Amino acid sequence: MQPTILIIGATGNIGSELTRLLSNEGQNVRVTVRPTSNTEKLKNPGVELVNADLSDTASLKEAMSGIEKVFFAAPLAPNMVELSSNIIQAAKEAGVKHLVKISGIGAELEAITLAKWHRAVEKEMEQSGMDYTFLRPNSFMQNIVNYSGYTIRDHGAMYAPMGDGKISLIDARDIAKVAYHVLTEKGHENKAYTLTGPSAISYPEIADILSTVTGKSVKFVDVSAEDARKSMLGAGMPTEVVDALLELNHINKLGYTADVSNTVEEITGQKATSFEAFAKDNKEAFLG
Ligand SMILES: NC(=O)c1ccc[n+]([C@@H]2O[C@H](COP(=O)([O-])OP(=O)(O)OC[C@H]3O[C@@H](n4cnc5c(N)ncnc54)[C@H](OP(=O)(O)O)[C@@H]3O)[C@@H](O)[C@H]2O)c1
Repeated sequence: MQPTILIIGATGNIGSELTRLLSNEGQNVRVTVRPTSNTEKLKNPGVELVNADLSDTASLKEAMSGIEKVFFAAPLAPNMVELSSNIIQAAKEAGVKHLVKISGIGAELEAITLAKWHRAVEKEMEQSGMDYTFLRPNSFMQNIVNYSGYTIRDHGAMYAPMGDGKISLIDARDIAKVAYHVLTEKGHENKAYTLTGPSAISYPEIADILSTVTGKSVKFVDVSAEDARKSMLGAGMPTEVVDALLELNHINKLGYTADVSNTVEEITGQKATSFEAFAKDNKEAFLG
């Protein structure tokens, strides 16, 4: 019998797609959920739902009973390092052999707060005695749907403090494909993979592509960091996360996250998804 793989963050951008991929290929999957989780997308054959919360190490240890491999995408929250540390602690106690973590591009440089948070967790994993794999993706194409979808639908505009900086945005579905290979093949132990889309693209270019794909005008409005801060705080985001995202936006704008890696294709055998293809697949999310 195939060993069961545990997914933490299974309702998220990557985890939901990874759960679907594993289930479709007949793998046994266990996913952690909370009483408030929307579990609709997780109801696939071979998927077992267990209750666990990242702030409750005992619940995580219980969810890891009999598990050798754990994938986790911890939420972007001020206590992300602490919540991830609970996963590592529980995994050690439960006898897990291999942890696969969603990290972030440039984590190894520790140049910005988000990289420092991710690298702190990576270091703890390196010292844990368990095998580890770090997936270090660039920003997700899904952010355009999640953060700009409603303004694009409402009034045909996307607002961000990005100028015309180019970013090699990646489709989270490609990250899930990489995670699928890492979890089901040998040879990915103790490796770190930088994951990007197939090319670097600016927000003005994204707006042009969305205009073409949707057939309605979508314009990009370059806002100041201060206006972006007000908007994110107004949406209820914690100050620490807002500051960390503004730092990231700043280096995005300067073009520091434009490098392209070929790792998605090397690991999955398929080319990384272009923004055009992503926009076509998600067209409905941009139409009012
Ligand atoms: N977005 C980007 O552009 C980007 C780029 C690079 C790296 N990353 C990294 O990717 C990670 C996020 O991945 P994602 O976007 O796939 O996830 P996501 O969509 O943000 O989903 C977060 C997941 O965490 C779960 N969760 C939140 N709080 C929890 C708790 N206390 N206990 C148990 N589960 C909890 C959520 O479950 P519920 O459904 O129960 O809420 C959900 O499944 C972050 O570490 C981020 O830094 C993101």
